[in-house]
Amino acid sequence: MKQLFRTKKITPEFENTLSRCLSKWDLTFLGIGAIIGTGIFVLTGIAAATQAGAAVVLSFVIAGFACTFAALSYAELAAAVGGCGSAYGYSYAAFGELVAWIIGWDLLLEYAISVAAVANGWAGYFNNALTAIGFGLPDALTKAPKLGGIINLPASLIILILMGLLIVGVKYSSKVNNIMVVVKLLTIAVFIGLASFNVNPENWHPFMPFGWFQTLPDGKTTGVLAGASIVFFAYVGFDAVSTAAEEAQNPQKDLPFGIVVSLIFCTVIYILVSGLLTGVVHYSDLNVSSPVAHALQLLGYNWASALVATGVIAGLTTVMLVLYYGLTRVIFAMARDGLLPEFFNEVHEKTQTPIRVIVMCGVIMAIIAGLIPLGDLAELVNIGTLAAFVLVCFGVIVLRFTQPNLVRPFRSPYSPLFPALGMISCSALMAFLPAQTWWRFLIWLAIGLVFYFVYSKQHSKLNKHRIN
Ligand code: ALA
Repeated sequence: MKQLFRTKKITPEFENTLSRCLSKWDLTFLGIGAIIGTGIFVLTGIAAATQAGAAVVLSFVIAGFACTFAALSYAELAAAVGGCGSAYGYSYAAFGELVAWIIGWDLLLEYAISVAAVANGWAGYFNNALTAIGFGLPDALTKAPKLGGIINLPASLIILILMGLLIVGVKYSSKVNNIMVVVKLLTIAVFIGLASFNVNPENWHPFMPFGWFQTLPDGKTTGVLAGASIVFFAYVGFDAVSTAAEEAQNPQKDLPFGIVVSLIFCTVIYILVSGLLTGVVHYSDLNVSSPVAHALQLLGYNWASALVATGVIAGLTTVMLVLYYGLTRVIFAMARDGLLPEFFNEVHEKTQTPIRVIVMCGVIMAIIAGLIPLGDLAELVNIGTLAAFVLVCFGVIVLRFTQPNLVRPFRSPYSPLFPALGMISCSALMAFLPAQTWWRFLIWLAIGLVFYFVYSKQHSKLNKHRIN
């Protein structure tokens, strides 16, 4: 029983076997690269049309508040505890092994399914672009079996390409990331610039057609709050910055900077884009796979629509890249602690990257992305991420009591109020998700618990007499 709650000591030196090459701006770009993606470019339209109406901008504000509280907690723990395992590592120090395992298992779900989900969205845009130039692929190669196809080939292939990039090495990948982020921001600037001159305030009426919250007879949820629990997906990814702790040049200062600056920046962009989008086109016309490009087309800017679509393809690529990167780092951290097989706990001599983990994840995610449709994947991501956020906020409170003298280069303001508000707001967003999503999440956790008791508990590095 005691074993389940054994904690990992917090060492002031950041453990390090990976190369330190990321500056604070690389980390901020890493955050922006992971944050702005399918959420704002695709889900805004769906949430506006089916859940929040023009008030989708409020959904973004509400989700943004929950994320801000969580981000401040992340920043405190990233600076004080460090390690590339992110929330997993912090829980190991604050709550002990069992909770750490649960949260690590949960992060695997968050990152892996996010990559597969975004790959599906990417494939949709990519197929549209191919069709526009006369090279459209047949349905059999662009749809999952459940939707009448054989495999979503572009979704699988993009993941395998990213796998190659990550194998080559992190600095190279982060350079690619930085360029793509600039492209993505330019396309958003084009949209904001053009949309600002075409707002028709009548589109904002009725502002809140679906009210705050209700559960429909089919179990789906609607209203501004349900919208918030969906567009929350748009914020997923800022936590990925914390998984780069071991590659940061000055983690104690740079991680809080990267986490907080990237989140604030993206929140402002989201409020602008969602407000303008529902201002230039009526919310009921936004339930399409590329709402931002669609809106520009409706306004008659065909060139801008094509430009934005191209930028989105680049943008979604960076999201996948950073989340994939985060996933490999969490697995690496768990393997190093002995909770996952040691086979993964190796950095390649030449490239300094954990190649085995990268290849294993790439192949599994490519299969998932090719065979399972976007809708089924996307639902799971938010609940897993929110659960991790709740525990990170709680971790800040627990560590302030159990380790009051820990050196904290960054402190979440107004603790324990802000971390408590983070717990409450993230739990509330979880509660607004449909029951089916809860079931899937609980099944995933149950599988994780079986794995823990069958394998990880015996192989943990914290065991005195470890089975190897
Ligand atoms: N926040 C990321 C996106 O919106 C996951 O695509």
